[in-house]
Amino acid sequence: MFRTLRQDVRAVFERDPAAKNLVEVLTCYPGLHAVCMHRIAHALYRWRCFTASRLLSHLSRFLTGIEIHPGARIGEGLFIDHGSGVVIGETTEIGRNVTLYQGVTLGGTGKEKGKRHPTIGDNVVISAGAKVLGSFEIGANSRIGAGSVVLKPVPANCTVVGVPGKIVRRDGQRVDGIDLRHDQLPDPVAEALTAMQERITYLEAKVRRLEGEPRAQGEPEAEGEPRAEGETTLGDLQHPDRPQGEVLSP
Ligand SMILES: CC(C)(COP(=O)(O)OP(=O)(O)OC[C@H]1O[C@@H](n2cnc3c(N)ncnc32)[C@H](O)[C@@H]1OP(=O)(O)O)[C@@H](O)C(=O)NCCC(=O)NCCS
Repeated sequence: MFRTLRQDVRAVFERDPAAKNLVEVLTCYPGLHAVCMHRIAHALYRWRCFTASRLLSHLSRFLTGIEIHPGARIGEGLFIDHGSGVVIGETTEIGRNVTLYQGVTLGGTGKEKGKRHPTIGDNVVISAGAKVLGSFEIGANSRIGAGSVVLKPVPANCTVVGVPGKIVRRDGQRVDGIDLRHDQLPDPVAEALTAMQERITYLEAKVRRLEGEPRAQGEPEAEGEPRAEGETTLGDLQHPDRPQGEVLSP
Protein backbone atom coordinates (compact mmCIF):
# COMPACT_ATOMS: atom_id res chain seq x y z
CA MET A 1 0.00 0.00 0.00
CA PHE A 2 2.75 2.49 0.99
CA ARG A 3 4.82 1.42 -2.00
CA THR A 4 1.88 2.20 -4.27
CA LEU A 5 1.34 5.57 -2.57
CA ARG A 6 5.03 6.37 -3.05
CA GLN A 7 4.73 5.53 -6.76
CA ASP A 8 1.62 7.72 -7.07
CA VAL A 9 3.44 10.66 -5.43
CA ARG A 10 6.54 10.09 -7.54
CA ALA A 11 4.33 10.16 -10.67
CA VAL A 12 3.26 13.71 -9.80
CA PHE A 13 6.87 14.92 -9.46
CA GLU A 14 7.91 13.14 -12.67
CA ARG A 15 5.08 14.39 -14.84
CA ASP A 16 4.15 17.82 -13.53
CA PRO A 17 6.95 20.37 -13.81
CA ALA A 18 4.84 22.68 -11.61
CA ALA A 19 5.13 20.36 -8.57
CA LYS A 20 7.49 22.07 -6.10
CA ASN A 21 7.59 20.06 -2.84
CA LEU A 22 6.05 17.09 -1.03
CA VAL A 23 3.68 19.14 1.15
CA GLU A 24 2.27 20.88 -1.89
CA VAL A 25 1.83 17.59 -3.76
CA LEU A 26 0.15 15.87 -0.80
CA THR A 27 -2.24 18.77 -0.15
CA CYS A 28 -2.97 20.43 -3.50
CA TYR A 29 -3.28 17.65 -6.08
CA PRO A 30 -6.89 16.44 -6.39
CA GLY A 31 -5.75 13.71 -8.81
CA LEU A 32 -3.55 12.22 -6.08
CA HIS A 33 -6.35 12.49 -3.51
CA ALA A 34 -8.78 10.75 -5.87
CA VAL A 35 -6.34 7.92 -6.61
CA CYS A 36 -5.60 7.39 -2.89
CA MET A 37 -9.29 7.33 -1.98
CA HIS A 38 -9.94 4.99 -4.90
CA ARG A 39 -7.37 2.51 -3.60
CA ILE A 40 -9.31 2.29 -0.31
CA ALA A 41 -12.68 2.18 -2.13
CA HIS A 42 -11.39 -0.59 -4.40
CA ALA A 43 -10.28 -2.65 -1.37
CA LEU A 44 -13.79 -2.27 0.09
CA TYR A 45 -15.27 -3.27 -3.29
CA ARG A 46 -13.13 -6.41 -3.36
CA TRP A 47 -14.33 -7.25 0.17
CA ARG A 48 -17.86 -6.92 -1.29
CA CYS A 49 -18.64 -3.82 0.82
CA PHE A 50 -20.26 -2.30 -2.25
CA THR A 51 -22.26 0.47 -0.57
CA ALA A 52 -19.34 1.64 1.57
CA SER A 53 -17.08 1.64 -1.48
CA ARG A 54 -19.60 3.66 -3.50
CA LEU A 55 -20.03 6.13 -0.64
CA LEU A 56 -16.28 6.69 -0.47
CA SER A 57 -16.07 7.07 -4.24
CA HIS A 58 -18.95 9.54 -4.07
CA LEU A 59 -17.21 11.56 -1.34
CA SER A 60 -14.04 11.56 -3.46
CA ARG A 61 -16.02 12.85 -6.43
CA PHE A 62 -17.51 15.60 -4.25
CA LEU A 63 -14.05 16.67 -3.05
CA THR A 64 -12.05 16.32 -6.28
CA GLY A 65 -14.47 16.38 -9.22
CA ILE A 66 -13.01 13.02 -10.30
CA GLU A 67 -15.36 10.05 -10.49
CA ILE A 68 -13.71 6.66 -10.30
CA HIS A 69 -15.96 3.65 -9.88
CA PRO A 70 -14.61 1.51 -7.01
CA GLY A 71 -14.55 -1.53 -9.29
CA ALA A 72 -11.93 0.02 -11.62
CA ARG A 73 -8.50 -1.64 -11.44
CA ILE A 74 -5.72 0.92 -11.42
CA GLY A 75 -1.98 0.22 -11.55
CA GLU A 76 0.80 2.12 -9.78
CA GLY A 77 1.79 5.62 -10.80
CA LEU A 78 -1.52 6.89 -12.22
CA PHE A 79 -1.29 10.67 -12.54
CA ILE A 80 -4.53 12.60 -13.06
CA ASP A 81 -3.53 16.19 -13.82
CA HIS A 82 -6.03 18.92 -12.87
CA GLY A 83 -8.66 16.23 -12.63
CA SER A 84 -12.04 17.88 -12.88
CA GLY A 85 -14.49 15.99 -15.03
CA VAL A 86 -12.54 12.73 -15.20
CA VAL A 87 -14.83 9.67 -15.23
CA ILE A 88 -13.52 6.11 -14.96
CA GLY A 89 -16.02 3.27 -15.32
CA GLU A 90 -16.44 0.12 -13.28
CA THR A 91 -14.69 -2.41 -15.53
CA THR A 92 -11.84 -0.13 -16.59
CA GLU A 93 -8.32 -1.54 -16.19
CA ILE A 94 -5.40 0.88 -16.09
CA GLY A 95 -1.77 -0.23 -16.33
CA ARG A 96 1.29 1.40 -14.74
CA ASN A 97 2.37 5.02 -15.09
CA VAL A 98 -0.68 6.19 -17.00
CA THR A 99 -1.42 9.92 -17.29
CA LEU A 100 -4.93 11.36 -17.62
CA TYR A 101 -5.83 15.02 -18.01
CA GLN A 102 -9.01 16.82 -17.06
CA GLY A 103 -12.24 15.85 -18.78
CA VAL A 104 -11.14 12.32 -19.77
CA THR A 105 -13.85 9.67 -19.87
CA LEU A 106 -13.02 5.98 -19.80
CA GLY A 107 -16.54 4.78 -20.36
CA GLY A 108 -18.85 2.25 -21.96
CA THR A 109 -21.11 2.83 -24.92
CA GLY A 110 -24.17 1.95 -22.84
CA LYS A 111 -24.96 -1.19 -24.82
CA GLU A 112 -22.93 -3.93 -23.22
CA LYS A 113 -22.99 -5.88 -19.98
CA GLY A 114 -19.97 -7.36 -18.18
CA LYS A 115 -16.61 -5.90 -19.24
CA ARG A 116 -17.64 -2.71 -21.02
CA HIS A 117 -14.90 -0.19 -20.32
CA PRO A 118 -11.44 0.13 -21.85
CA THR A 119 -8.16 -1.46 -20.82
CA ILE A 120 -5.35 1.09 -20.80
CA GLY A 121 -1.79 -0.14 -21.29
CA ASP A 122 1.34 1.02 -19.42
CA ASN A 123 2.64 4.57 -19.95
CA VAL A 124 -0.40 5.68 -21.97
CA VAL A 125 -1.21 9.43 -22.00
CA ILE A 126 -4.84 10.44 -22.52
CA SER A 127 -5.11 14.18 -23.17
CA ALA A 128 -7.63 16.72 -21.98
CA GLY A 129 -11.25 16.02 -22.88
CA ALA A 130 -10.57 12.74 -24.70
CA LYS A 131 -13.20 9.99 -24.54
CA VAL A 132 -12.33 6.30 -24.79
CA LEU A 133 -15.57 4.39 -25.07
CA GLY A 134 -16.00 0.62 -25.12
CA SER A 135 -14.31 -2.58 -24.08
CA PHE A 136 -11.05 -2.63 -26.00
CA GLU A 137 -7.37 -2.04 -25.39
CA ILE A 138 -5.20 1.03 -25.76
CA GLY A 139 -1.71 -0.38 -26.31
CA ALA A 140 1.27 0.57 -24.14
CA ASN A 141 3.02 3.92 -24.71
CA SER A 142 0.22 5.26 -26.93
CA ARG A 143 -1.04 8.85 -26.76
CA ILE A 144 -4.59 10.00 -27.27
CA GLY A 145 -4.91 13.62 -28.46
CA ALA A 146 -6.99 16.26 -26.71
CA GLY A 147 -10.69 16.08 -27.55
CA SER A 148 -10.46 12.75 -29.39
CA VAL A 149 -13.18 10.13 -29.25
CA VAL A 150 -11.67 6.65 -29.46
CA LEU A 151 -14.03 3.80 -30.28
CA LYS A 152 -11.66 1.08 -31.49
CA PRO A 153 -8.55 -0.68 -30.17
CA VAL A 154 -5.26 1.16 -30.51
CA PRO A 155 -1.99 -0.78 -30.92
CA ALA A 156 1.08 0.05 -28.82
CA ASN A 157 3.24 3.14 -29.52
CA CYS A 158 0.60 5.05 -31.49
CA THR A 159 -0.76 8.60 -31.45
CA VAL A 160 -4.49 8.90 -32.03
CA VAL A 161 -6.35 12.16 -32.74
CA GLY A 162 -9.76 13.26 -33.98
CA VAL A 163 -13.41 12.25 -33.83
CA PRO A 164 -13.64 9.36 -34.32
CA GLY A 165 -10.02 8.76 -33.34
CA LYS A 166 -7.54 7.88 -36.11
CA ILE A 167 -3.94 6.78 -35.79
CA VAL A 168 -1.64 9.57 -37.03
CA ARG A 169 1.66 8.17 -35.75
CA ARG A 170 2.88 4.64 -35.17
CA ASP A 171 6.29 3.90 -33.66
CA GLY A 172 7.17 7.57 -34.13
CA GLN A 173 6.45 7.50 -37.86
CA ARG A 174 3.69 9.51 -39.44
CA VAL A 175 0.90 7.26 -40.77
CA ASP A 176 0.03 8.27 -44.35
CA GLY A 177 -3.41 8.16 -45.83
CA ILE A 178 -5.12 9.63 -42.79
CA ASP A 179 -7.48 12.38 -43.80
CA LEU A 180 -7.15 15.16 -41.22
CA ARG A 181 -8.92 17.76 -43.38
CA HIS A 182 -11.58 18.48 -40.81
CA ASP A 183 -12.63 21.55 -42.84
CA GLN A 184 -13.83 19.33 -45.70
CA LEU A 185 -16.43 17.21 -43.96
CA PRO A 186 -19.45 16.08 -46.04
CA ASP A 187 -22.42 18.45 -45.86
CA PRO A 188 -25.57 16.32 -45.29
CA VAL A 189 -27.91 19.36 -45.51
CA ALA A 190 -26.60 20.32 -48.95
CA GLU A 191 -26.87 16.69 -50.08
CA ALA A 192 -30.48 16.49 -48.88
CA LEU A 193 -31.36 19.74 -50.69
CA THR A 194 -29.78 18.44 -53.91
CA ALA A 195 -31.80 15.23 -53.66
CA MET A 196 -35.01 17.22 -53.08
CA GLN A 197 -34.26 19.51 -56.04
CA GLU A 198 -33.81 16.48 -58.29
CA ARG A 199 -37.06 15.01 -57.11
CA ILE A 200 -38.96 18.28 -57.68
CA THR A 201 -37.57 18.52 -61.22
CA TYR A 202 -38.66 14.95 -61.86
CA LEU A 203 -42.19 15.51 -60.52
CA GLU A 204 -42.66 18.82 -62.38
CA ALA A 205 -41.67 17.15 -65.63
CA LYS A 206 -44.01 14.25 -64.95
CA VAL A 207 -46.98 16.54 -64.18
CA ARG A 208 -46.36 18.55 -67.34
CA ARG A 209 -46.29 15.36 -69.36
CA LEU A 210 -49.53 14.12 -67.74
CA GLU A 211 -51.18 17.44 -68.57
CA GLY A 212 -50.11 16.98 -72.18
CA GLU A 213 -47.82 20.01 -72.24
CA PRO A 214 -45.02 19.96 -74.80
CA ARG A 215 -41.60 19.24 -73.46
CA ALA A 216 -39.66 22.38 -72.50
CA GLN A 217 -36.18 23.13 -73.83
CA GLY A 218 -33.66 20.92 -72.00
CA GLU A 219 -36.37 19.06 -70.07
CA PRO A 220 -35.92 15.32 -69.84
CA GLU A 221 -38.35 13.27 -71.87
CA ALA A 222 -40.80 10.71 -70.48
CA GLU A 223 -39.91 7.07 -70.20
CA GLY A 224 -40.42 5.11 -73.40
CA GLU A 225 -40.13 8.13 -75.71
CA PRO A 226 -37.32 8.11 -78.23
CA ARG A 227 -34.50 10.43 -77.26
CA ALA A 228 -31.65 12.11 -79.01
CA GLU A 229 -28.10 11.02 -78.28
CA GLY A 230 -26.86 12.41 -74.94
CA GLU A 231 -30.36 13.47 -73.80
CA THR A 232 -31.64 12.66 -70.31
CA THR A 233 -34.82 10.71 -69.56
CA LEU A 234 -36.91 10.91 -66.41
CA GLY A 235 -35.45 7.57 -65.49
CA ASP A 236 -31.98 9.16 -65.41
CA LEU A 237 -33.05 11.59 -62.69
CA GLN A 238 -31.85 9.95 -59.58
CA HIS A 239 -29.85 10.84 -56.54
CA PRO A 240 -26.15 10.40 -57.19
CA ASP A 241 -25.79 8.32 -54.00
CA ARG A 242 -28.47 5.82 -55.06
CA PRO A 243 -27.33 2.60 -56.70
CA GLN A 244 -27.18 2.78 -60.50
CA GLY A 245 -30.55 1.90 -61.98
CA GLU A 246 -32.53 2.88 -58.88
CA VAL A 247 -34.92 5.59 -60.02
CA LEU A 248 -36.82 8.11 -57.91
CA SER A 249 -40.37 6.91 -58.07
CA PRO A 250 -43.21 9.42 -58.03
C1 LIG B 1 -1.76 14.24 -29.72
C2 LIG B 1 -0.65 14.99 -28.98
C3 LIG B 1 -0.31 14.22 -27.72
C4 LIG B 1 0.58 15.15 -29.88
O1 LIG B 1 1.04 13.94 -30.40
P1 LIG B 1 2.25 13.88 -31.48
O2 LIG B 1 2.56 12.45 -31.67
O3 LIG B 1 3.35 14.80 -31.07
O4 LIG B 1 1.53 14.39 -32.78
P2 LIG B 1 1.77 15.73 -33.62
O5 LIG B 1 1.77 16.92 -32.72
O6 LIG B 1 2.96 15.55 -34.50
O7 LIG B 1 0.46 15.77 -34.49
C5 LIG B 1 0.21 14.82 -35.54
C6 LIG B 1 -0.97 15.35 -36.34
O8 LIG B 1 -2.15 15.30 -35.52
C7 LIG B 1 -2.73 16.61 -35.40
N1 LIG B 1 -3.18 16.75 -34.00
C8 LIG B 1 -2.42 16.75 -32.89
N2 LIG B 1 -3.19 16.85 -31.80
C9 LIG B 1 -4.47 16.88 -32.24
C10 LIG B 1 -5.73 16.96 -31.58
N3 LIG B 1 -5.81 17.00 -30.27
N4 LIG B 1 -6.86 16.95 -32.35
C11 LIG B 1 -6.77 16.90 -33.71
N5 LIG B 1 -5.60 16.82 -34.38
C12 LIG B 1 -4.47 16.82 -33.66
C13 LIG B 1 -1.61 17.58 -35.72
O9 LIG B 1 -2.10 18.79 -36.23
C14 LIG B 1 -0.83 16.80 -36.76
O10 LIG B 1 -1.47 16.91 -38.01
P3 LIG B 1 -0.61 17.22 -39.32
O11 LIG B 1 0.41 16.11 -39.37
O12 LIG B 1 -1.61 17.18 -40.43
O13 LIG B 1 0.01 18.55 -39.08
C15 LIG B 1 -1.02 16.41 -28.64
O14 LIG B 1 -1.34 17.12 -29.82
C16 LIG B 1 -2.17 16.60 -27.69
O15 LIG B 1 -3.34 16.46 -28.00
N6 LIG B 1 -1.77 17.01 -26.47
C17 LIG B 1 -2.73 17.38 -25.48
C18 LIG B 1 -2.05 17.51 -24.13
C19 LIG B 1 -3.05 17.99 -23.11
O16 LIG B 1 -4.15 17.46 -22.98
N7 LIG B 1 -2.65 18.97 -22.35
C20 LIG B 1 -3.52 19.50 -21.36
C21 LIG B 1 -2.66 20.16 -20.32
S1 LIG B 1 -3.68 20.96 -19.17
